[in-house]
Amino acid sequence: MTDVSLIPAHVPPERVMRFDFRNDAEIRRDPWGYIARLDERPDIFFSPDLGGYWIVTRAAMIDEVFSRHDLFTATSVAIPKRDKSVVLIPNNFDPPEHTAYRKTMANNLFSPRALATLEPDTRAFSQALFDSFVPGACEFVDDYAYKLPIDIFLKLMGADLALRDDCLSWIKLIFRGRDADETNRGFIAAAGWVATWLDEQLADPARNPGSMFQAMVASRINGRALTLDEMRSITLMLFTGGLDTITSQMTHIMRFLAENPDHRRHLVDHPEDVPFALEELLRRFGISFIGRAVAKDIDYHGVAMKEGDVICAATPIAGLDPRAFPDPLTVDFGRGNGRRVKHLGFGSGPHLCIGAHLARVQLTVMLEDLLPRMPNLRIAPGTTIETMNGATLMLKALPLLWDA
Ligand code: HEM
Repeated sequence: MTDVSLIPAHVPPERVMRFDFRNDAEIRRDPWGYIARLDERPDIFFSPDLGGYWIVTRAAMIDEVFSRHDLFTATSVAIPKRDKSVVLIPNNFDPPEHTAYRKTMANNLFSPRALATLEPDTRAFSQALFDSFVPGACEFVDDYAYKLPIDIFLKLMGADLALRDDCLSWIKLIFRGRDADETNRGFIAAAGWVATWLDEQLADPARNPGSMFQAMVASRINGRALTLDEMRSITLMLFTGGLDTITSQMTHIMRFLAENPDHRRHLVDHPEDVPFALEELLRRFGISFIGRAVAKDIDYHGVAMKEGDVICAATPIAGLDPRAFPDPLTVDFGRGNGRRVKHLGFGSGPHLCIGAHLARVQLTVMLEDLLPRMPNLRIAPGTTIETMNGATLMLKALPLLWDA
């Protein structure tokens, strides 16, 4: 039942429509069909779910919500709104403060030096995971999609790879917790580890040369070193931004390829097309529901919004907008006509995903390394596919079989 107390007086009744991307039964069963049908709704509507929030359903507007920090502030990006005690650098800052953090992160943590071994490490970890499968079968979500990004994160940071299982349990609590309590428990455990781990590293900063940790120590912001609190915030940001997202993305792409042998064969026979195919898959299977807070009272495309209203920029909705992508549900590796399809899967504007290169490397390795070794790939018969959704859409489980 709609909770009318969550509908502010300035929201016109004709724009009120329910949409709960975390819990709607339909989005769990058929996320893409459900999201494609949002196109039949107004360009802007208000859902009383998840604390009450605006949703824009056109790619051009989603681009605007991401980019117009003068209208939409990133100080709050979670839906429902989260406790403001956790501020993540750089995500929760608007320009100009954001620009300084972003610049130093791009120049240091994400520099070619810090990422020098990313590709060979990713290939080695991917092969080790494949070798750990029972021949011809895996539960892709737990056996691969969760593990590869965590291994890479720990390796890049210069942390102990034995921490994988702990990280996995915190990530599952934070993003897939059954309630706010579980989410908080995961967050507190991860933040506790970050604090202790940073203290240990700072006691002996010369170890793990070339790691992201060392790059963080070398970073300067307005001419000074980062404070301990800033380092904690950045590490937690990378932990929360860079793991669950890649996992979610991998699950939809592998499901699609397991169900579509022609597309799979094309990638195995034409590895030179992988970079183009990947962008089309990122367009088709957007995963993120990102929030902003309205920065001041505005008239946005004819709709009155008040300061503090929450508004959602959803990349799955952007990728399925037929105005931007004709026949949007079809995966067409040639869609870009020899160019990479431009999409909003990594956001846009000042907060455009800083980890996009890292994500692309891991997704490319998944396609190049796994597909040729999984002939006759298919989903295990009798499987009911379901998503479990938080800030991203993710498959709950994906049991795969192939001819070993
Ligand atoms: C397929 C994987 C990924 C997807 C789909 C994704 C998606 C996104 C999106 C949509 C945003 C924009 C958020 C906003 O506007 O508020 C974003 C920002 C961000 N992402 Fe990613 N991301 C992925 C992987 C990663 C990885 C691997 C890392 C790092 C290890 C990372 C770190 C970040 C950070 C730090 C930001 C905030 C950037 C800023 O505020 O300037 N992401 N990501």
